[in-house]
Amino acid sequence: MLAVPASAADVDAGPLTSRDSLFPHQGNGGYNAQSYHLDLTYVRHGHALKGLTTMTARARQDLTSFGLDLEGLNVSRVWVNGVRASFHRGSDKLVVTPVRELRTGSIFTTRIQYAGVPHTHVDPDGSSEGWIPTADGVVALNEPVGAMTWFPNNNTPRDKARYRFTIHAPKRLEVASNGRLVRRTTRHGIGTWHYVMAKPMASYLAFLAIGQFKIHHGRTSDGIRLLSFTDPKVPAPTAALRKLPGILHWLQTQFGPYPFADAGFVDDKIGVDYALETQTRPTFDGTVPITDLVHELAHQWFGDAVTPADWGDIWLNEGFATYTEWLWAARTGESTEDQFTELLAAHPAGDPFWQTPPQDLGDPANLFGNAVYERGAMTLEALRETIGDVAFNTTIRQWYVGHRGQSTSTAEFIDLAEQTSGQDLTSFFHNWLDQPTRPTGW
Ligand code: TRP
Ligand code: ZN
Repeated sequence: MLAVPASAADVDAGPLTSRDSLFPHQGNGGYNAQSYHLDLTYVRHGHALKGLTTMTARARQDLTSFGLDLEGLNVSRVWVNGVRASFHRGSDKLVVTPVRELRTGSIFTTRIQYAGVPHTHVDPDGSSEGWIPTADGVVALNEPVGAMTWFPNNNTPRDKARYRFTIHAPKRLEVASNGRLVRRTTRHGIGTWHYVMAKPMASYLAFLAIGQFKIHHGRTSDGIRLLSFTDPKVPAPTAALRKLPGILHWLQTQFGPYPFADAGFVDDKIGVDYALETQTRPTFDGTVPITDLVHELAHQWFGDAVTPADWGDIWLNEGFATYTEWLWAARTGESTEDQFTELLAAHPAGDPFWQTPPQDLGDPANLFGNAVYERGAMTLEALRETIGDVAFNTTIRQWYVGHRGQSTSTAEFIDLAEQTSGQDLTSFFHNWLDQPTRPTGW
């Protein structure tokens, strides 16, 4: 067996962390992933998986070994630059030791062959993610850390990469994933689906949905290719399918051009009770309420194109997507100001609502809590009321245009808001994002 533990004293061993504030064991230093190719075979019996994942990366330091995140599964072989490499498993890690040390700046290819029945990962808040078997197939959803249950990767939103997927499944099943469906072939009872996600993507936004689906094709008037998948066993989300192009158009008028060439959504009976902004094609659990569709589509700009580098900055995703729901509602109903005022009235000073500041969640179980969604959106409305519509709209649009394709931070957002408004917003953001109390006087 090729299993050699790396020495702790080895100074050129890549760190097995990305130093995330909420998930310190996730991610790996030492390299930047550039692209992944996932060649996966879904085995219906037992919902098992056979995989061949190829990661191309650039070494950020000399590397005698480096890590990838991987939970469960049996790794049979690893190659680096085409040569068999030794490896060992740590907790949720695959540590690879190539025959030759990798030099700073060099581009290298790691290929990992593996198989098994992937785990469903249970989050600190009790929700399920990762590999989730359904009645007629499987769905893989990755926020925040589930990607490691079905493919080895650098599991941090700090390290975005391009993706290609080659997915094999029994031919009577359909396969949805990210980006453009470039080809679909059938041989010996197996269907093979080729997807390309040409723009950078964080691993938590990669997904698969395999099962029996009705496929809906289309194209928006400005040329975005639409491809949606709906489960024939749940009521058809006809309103969502009809409104998708119009919502995409409206979002572009608010924030700037749609970040990708492909769009759509997946609706499947999953049983997780949340929707996810999977890149280009958000995933819904059996129903697609229009407000949720607006929320997940808003994430394509905020979360998917512009991605927080650290999970502690997740209000940049959820605050923005929730604020977009307010903007959507304001078209025909209550203004964002009134929605904000109502929330303020509902949460007087001393209400536990204020105890968890968006930028100081403490516990990863708070990742999808009220502080992140509602106080995050309130922060944006308070910002608009502080710097005015013109500076606010410029800030939001610039945030997208200046950071799309990248991973970024709250500090950069504050800098931008200060630059566009010409105001010192230090105490404003400190009160809204860092303090366990109800802000006053913004
Ligand atoms: N990010 C998702 C959204 O708001 C929500 C989400 C993902 C979630 N995973 C979760 C919510 C786990 C609760 C629990 O669009
Ligand atoms: Zn969201």
